[in-house]
Amino acid sequence: MRILGIETSCDDSAVAIYDSTCGLLAHKIYSQTDIHRLYGGVVPELAARDHLQKLLPLLIQLFKDLNISKKSIEGIAYTAGPGLMGALLVGAAVGRSLGWALGVPTLGVHHLEGHLLAPMLEPNPPQFPFVALLVSGGHTLLVEVQGLGRYTLLGESLDDAAGEAFDKTAKLLGLGYPGGPALAQLAEKGQAGRYVFPRPMTDRPGLDFSFSGLKTAALNTWLNAEQTEQAKADIAHAFQTAVIDTLVIKCRRALQQTRAQRLVIAGGVSANRLLREQLAVLAQKLNIQVFFPRVEFCTDNAAMIAYAGCQRLLAGQRDDLTIKAQARWSLTESN
Ligand code: KG4
Ligand code: ZN
Repeated sequence: MRILGIETSCDDSAVAIYDSTCGLLAHKIYSQTDIHRLYGGVVPELAARDHLQKLLPLLIQLFKDLNISKKSIEGIAYTAGPGLMGALLVGAAVGRSLGWALGVPTLGVHHLEGHLLAPMLEPNPPQFPFVALLVSGGHTLLVEVQGLGRYTLLGESLDDAAGEAFDKTAKLLGLGYPGGPALAQLAEKGQAGRYVFPRPMTDRPGLDFSFSGLKTAALNTWLNAEQTEQAKADIAHAFQTAVIDTLVIKCRRALQQTRAQRLVIAGGVSANRLLREQLAVLAQKLNIQVFFPRVEFCTDNAAMIAYAGCQRLLAGQRDDLTIKAQARWSLTESN
């Protein structure tokens, strides 16, 4: 089954075609970073307007590059939430209308389901069941995945998501936008042990997270430091180590609690080098397997949406003609 995927939940317009026999045929991403950089964060109205301008040309280009006709598409999957309402509506309206025009089944897909199935696009995909750590700009979740649409929430962030904490701390340190990767890069130059921040909520049982206190710790340390470039790098190092240690401690707990043999890491923060290294070490210690999507499928993309939609369409799921967009939508509601 050949599926067109559309993703517009935040600040990336993305399209992809996934074929259940041949795999991913192609995918394209247009990033709005240059628009939002001026404002230091994503401006929802500008995001929606830009999706409106870029999505159709991107789609046309995708078909041109592959030299295939729209008529060869057998189903459409678009991101229906969670995300920015205006942004979601653009992809949803295009996806649903095109599905109607072509007379093919169409589905609104959960953005986080897309992220957690992204490693399935790799040559060596994980088998069910597995534990997934989903770490993006909007979410930090630990999920037990028994199969497609069979998700049990093990823990989540009670305040800032891990990516959000990276972005906010980067902003406080004057690192610009988008801050996460810049902060991670600066942390490489930091001296270990110069500053030590807490590992929030690791001193009590449970799998929930809380990252908002770490940005305050970073800000207070910066305000009381001598404010040199080295001090900034040392703070970035302490911050990154605290976030990654916390994520690794909770992954270990989740694996022990569920006795899972496989761990999947997904979402934008899974591009973080230290996180990948530390989880590879954990996997070796626990004698389990760890799976990461390639970096371009860690952050927002339409390949993961086309894949998730394809699995659900193959299972016979169909939506009616409603254009589906939900700014807030819990992953377990998509079961
Ligand atoms: O999954 P994603 O593209 O968008 C959401 O659905 O949120 O994730 C983006 C998030 C941002 O917060 C960004 O700062 C973070 O992922 N991120 C990183 C790194 N690369 C992206 N955080 C830490 N280290 C990185 N290397
Ligand atoms: Zn995302």
